[in-house]
Amino acid sequence: MIERLSELAAAALGDLDAARTEKDVEDARVRYLGRKSEIATISKGLGALSDDERKALGKALNEFKATVTARLDEARTRVLAGAASASVGPDLTLPGRAPWVGRKHPITRTLDRLEEILLGLGFEVAVGPEVEDEFHNFEALNIPPDHPARDMWDTFYVDGGSLLRTHTSPVQIRVMQSTKPPVRIIAPGRVYRNENPDASHGSEFYQLEGLYVDRDVRLAELRGVLTRFLKELLGDDVGIRFRPGFFPFTEPSIEVDVRCSICGGSGCSVCKGTGWVELVGAGMVDPRVFRAVGYDPDAVSGYAFGLGVDRVCMMLTGTDDIRLFLENDLRFLRGV
Ligand code: DAH
Repeated sequence: MIERLSELAAAALGDLDAARTEKDVEDARVRYLGRKSEIATISKGLGALSDDERKALGKALNEFKATVTARLDEARTRVLAGAASASVGPDLTLPGRAPWVGRKHPITRTLDRLEEILLGLGFEVAVGPEVEDEFHNFEALNIPPDHPARDMWDTFYVDGGSLLRTHTSPVQIRVMQSTKPPVRIIAPGRVYRNENPDASHGSEFYQLEGLYVDRDVRLAELRGVLTRFLKELLGDDVGIRFRPGFFPFTEPSIEVDVRCSICGGSGCSVCKGTGWVELVGAGMVDPRVFRAVGYDPDAVSGYAFGLGVDRVCMMLTGTDDIRLFLENDLRFLRGV
């Protein structure tokens, strides 16, 4: 009888290992442990045995049941897990993972906006090289060699007498050299300065130059155009402040500040606690500049302005560190 039990145990374990479905497991349970199983019959016969025989068979029966029950549990867990993983298809109720759509850099968006407004005010776009010569970057703009005015621009010089343009003003010179008045252009572009970068200064940044030359152009018109332009750009209620300034290529020269939109004017690191951000340098084109390009200063007059594009971008996007525009950190770029 005990021998028969070990045969049955081997058969039961084999069937359970081969079970693939819950039903296979249940069938094996009924077959080996059920009320009509051979084990049930054997158990019923226990009473007819002698004490010693009953003890020995009873022990063997208990072992059989324990072994088969344990393997039965294992088999059930296994087939249930298999069924669960087999039924895992795409869960159509989960929210989708949207692909990230690329978009323009905030500086590019700012340049687009500036051009849109200024084209609407009658300007055309002009371009010039980023590697310039001293004549266009300095001399023609009334900044002679060795003149202390050059200290205003910390310059990167390139081998062979060239330099990286320190402002977009040389584009004024190139346009006037190649065009007869009247001219009304803007020149957006990248400029370079040998400066230690901080939250509001980069060694590489963007400017937008403006130039209008015609007969009888006056400072009042410059003021009107800049006011209209800044309101269009930053909103009708933007605070605007015109101050006297100095640039070698304009006379008179002015600087234009706007209320700092980062702190609302209460003072922060971007406006250096003043509540105002310097956005524009401007003025009436100096007669010496006209002479350098072959224009007659008695026949024409004009105004020019240069705008810090990165600062505009900071105002528009609420960014308080100019260096973020160059670092290409997607965590920043996706948020602005
Ligand atoms: N080029 C000047 C600068 O980089 C800005 C500027 C001031 C441009 C006055 C102008 C101007 O056209 O008229 O600091």
